[in-house]
Amino acid sequence: MTISKHSAPFSSFKDPADFQRLRGVFEAAGYCNTNVLEKLGVRDFPSIRGSDVSLLLSKTGGGTALDTIIRLFLIEVPCDIENMKLAFQPLKLEALAETGLIRITGTSAEAAIKLLPHNDLFITFDQTRMLQTGHRQNYVMGIGSSTLTLSNLTIRKRSRQTLDLGAGCGIHAFMAAKHSERVIAVDLNPRAVQIASFNARLNGLSNVECLEGDLFAPVKGQKFDLVITNPPFVISPETRYIYRDGGLEADQLCRKIVREVPQYLNEGGYCQILCNWIEPHGQE
Ligand SMILES: C[S@@+](CC[C@H](N)C(=O)[O-])C[C@H]1O[C@@H](n2cnc3c(N)ncnc32)[C@H](O)[C@@H]1O
Repeated sequence: MTISKHSAPFSSFKDPADFQRLRGVFEAAGYCNTNVLEKLGVRDFPSIRGSDVSLLLSKTGGGTALDTIIRLFLIEVPCDIENMKLAFQPLKLEALAETGLIRITGTSAEAAIKLLPHNDLFITFDQTRMLQTGHRQNYVMGIGSSTLTLSNLTIRKRSRQTLDLGAGCGIHAFMAAKHSERVIAVDLNPRAVQIASFNARLNGLSNVECLEGDLFAPVKGQKFDLVITNPPFVISPETRYIYRDGGLEADQLCRKIVREVPQYLNEGGYCQILCNWIEPHGQE
């Protein structure tokens, strides 16, 4: 699979203290799952997708910092620059724009990326509208149903070293950081590595390292107590998206992981993989 060199721009804050400032802004505004769902009157985040935008706007018309943050990062509508300044102080809007989190146009600003609370974490990932642009191949997916299936099944034992293979926005790595001394998050997509590194810093997780590379290449010779992986397991002839299409024929990518992972596991270690596999006609 060829990887596009032309990713939508995204980078870290120039001032490292801005990570703490942004987290502080979210915490002070009460930007968390419970408050957001309660304010919007919905059961869960996926049900927001089908909701009427004008209804969501009417529920976030109070002018509070929480209203502005929800409109910006969740409803994805342009917000008034003066409301934004108030909502994000002491963080400068220019700093948010430099990272690629927002775009400022005249007297309004809009989010260039998604940034949602997930339990006690804040997670950045790509807006689905990126799939309609020339940058679509490097799209970094958010927390989908396959993500939740794997994270709900993950064995939460103490781990000396954990590998999140195909980390995307890094969610499994961050959840594993709580029961691991060290976590390595690997992804082939350079944009995913940038976003996961940003997320690790935003959440103050200093024991997570994000590396770019193909499968186990960046961790050659290392051993893990836990390997978690939600690889691009869709079996199809497509190679359009890195997050979805493995680039190898049929179930070869998942087979390759299952074959190679034992040499990276400590005695008693686990690999938890979410995968599809083919059943050729007439074979077991
Ligand atoms: C289905 S997404 C999973 C993302 C995230 N771990 C999750 O569960 O939400 C698969 C991820 O694997 C990455 N990937 C695809 N091929 C890869 C490879 N050969 N080596 C490493 N990562 C790869 C993609 O860029 C994508 O981020």
